[in-house]
Amino acid sequence: MAAELAKKDWRVTGTVRPGSARTALHDLADEYPDRVDLETVDITDPEGIAALRTRLADRTFDVLFVNAGTTNDEGERIGDVSTDEFVRVMITNSLSPMRVVESFSDLVPPTGLIGAMTSGQGSVANNTTGYREVYRGSKAALNMFMRSVAARESESRRAFVVMAPGWVQTALGGPGARLTIEESVPRLVEVLLAKRERPGIEYLDYLGRTVPW
Ligand SMILES: NC(=O)c1ccc[n+]([C@@H]2O[C@H](COP(=O)([O-])OP(=O)(O)OC[C@H]3O[C@@H](n4cnc5c(N)ncnc54)[C@H](OP(=O)(O)O)[C@@H]3O)[C@@H](O)[C@H]2O)c1
Repeated sequence: MAAELAKKDWRVTGTVRPGSARTALHDLADEYPDRVDLETVDITDPEGIAALRTRLADRTFDVLFVNAGTTNDEGERIGDVSTDEFVRVMITNSLSPMRVVESFSDLVPPTGLIGAMTSGQGSVANNTTGYREVYRGSKAALNMFMRSVAARESESRRAFVVMAPGWVQTALGGPGARLTIEESVPRLVEVLLAKRERPGIEYLDYLGRTVPW
């Protein structure tokens, strides 16, 4: 997503975790030194979020988007997951993105966009099969929390979005996923940027289709 936005002449601040090995984002920052800034944060560390907020205090962001997420053993049923594993997934996927959103929202102008990467698996209405149960619950919770923030700001011009990227070949999606990154991300970014014109919250997939909550 950072690469796609940089190609479109956006100035991007992207994050890796502290102590991260070299990533594609490091390469991108080298390729676009004037357009891509590299920062560090572990979103499960509230002090780290606060420190990043302090470092970026004099900046404004037309788009704030939280992409970080994790999963667990896909076949593990909700009644079988350990408490530690449940807490790990929920803190990473549901609570921490919202801490980032709440901490940084005042750096986003009233006409800006705040988004988070959810999943089609976060749809309560579309869950007719079970499976990936903890992950589904964590993304459904993220959707609900984003709706709460958007509802608080329902009188404002601001746009909110939770995005479902499709099943994509990443570390999380696995090599057998239906879509390559190149098939998902450019279209997802188009959908994201177009959403800036529409205040309020929507749950959209990478083709711009509405996903039932
Ligand atoms: N791939 C799919 O099919 C698919 C489908 C639906 C939704 N999604 C969502 O898309 C998003 C991106 O996932 P992906 O598919 O690109 O998987 P990925 O390759 O595993 O990427 C996940 C990213 O999140 C970062 N991250 C995880 N925990 C973090 C933390 N505590 N603090 C900061 N960064 C953290 C990871 O950093 P490290 O490299 O340091 O671990 C990694 O860069 C996730 O929210 C995922 O749930 C993916």
